[in-house]
Amino acid sequence: VTAPAAATGLAIFGASGRMGLSVLRLLPEFPSLRLKAALCSATSPAVGRDSGELAGLGANGVSLSAEWPADTGDIGLALDFSVPAAAISNLRRCAASGVALLLGTTGLGADAAEPIEEASRRIPVLVAPNTSRGAGVLMSLARRAAAALGDGYDVSLHDVHHRGKRDAPSGTSLALGEAIQRSVGGPSVRVGYTSVRGGDVVGQHEVRFLGAGESVRLSHEVTDRAVFARGALEAALWLIGKPPGRYAMADLIEEK
Ligand SMILES: NC(=O)c1ccc[n+]([C@@H]2O[C@H](COP(=O)([O-])OP(=O)(O)OC[C@H]3O[C@@H](n4cnc5c(N)ncnc54)[C@H](OP(=O)(O)O)[C@@H]3O)[C@@H](O)[C@H]2O)c1
Repeated sequence: VTAPAAATGLAIFGASGRMGLSVLRLLPEFPSLRLKAALCSATSPAVGRDSGELAGLGANGVSLSAEWPADTGDIGLALDFSVPAAAISNLRRCAASGVALLLGTTGLGADAAEPIEEASRRIPVLVAPNTSRGAGVLMSLARRAAAALGDGYDVSLHDVHHRGKRDAPSGTSLALGEAIQRSVGGPSVRVGYTSVRGGDVVGQHEVRFLGAGESVRLSHEVTDRAVFARGALEAALWLIGKPPGRYAMADLIEEK
């Protein structure tokens, strides 16, 4: 009889938020991950509360805290769904502790590139502005369309999200725009961004290639936040044991 492999200890940054709670609710489906730390801001009303109870499950014994544990020996993996102001220091904590990180927080800006490169020399960092499978397919189709259509088409990227989303355009729109520029082969293609924020829309993206006499339209919609949470947990499992480096969702999708 072989003993089951030990579960990997998991930390969640932003555990009290919409995404963090969604991840907590799905965790029971991922027995190879064991929650070890649930983090939020120091001023959060959630500090000290049991994270399982906060997520509407039974108590799990892991309380919400603003403190990264002094001893991280039993944490192998972290998910970050927090805010840009916290995400870079979270990244540095993970690098210093040798903890693999899925960086799901968006709106980080250009200043984040260097700390991500620095951290990815020490740990595997999966930069994942969108962890849904369908959005990965949208990315791959947009790349192919851009390469096939060339620079004679203007590109319009449109995203719609709930009123609580802080960044605009979305991280997904920005990633699509960059991928399209690369696929066309340079900055010659004109890419415009529009965003709408309101209500409880989980996430919609539309890519349009507007040419002379024709246009191509690709779109993707998420109606349930659990799609992001499940994608994040699956991607995080994939990240365990990878050598240090910077990874993207495309690496995982292309490997499949
Ligand atoms: N990768 C993807 O597929 C994906 C999907 C959806 C969303 N996102 C991104 O994930 C991020 C979180 O989204 P959300 O909708 O869950 O946001 P949210 O509900 O506002 O949650 C933000 C979380 O960050 C915590 N936080 C705030 N300030 C902090 C600080 N200074 N230090 C540490 N923690 C802090 C909040 O805790 P308290 O307020 O309780 O302190 C809360 O737990 C956003 O950047 C969003 O764009 C990514």
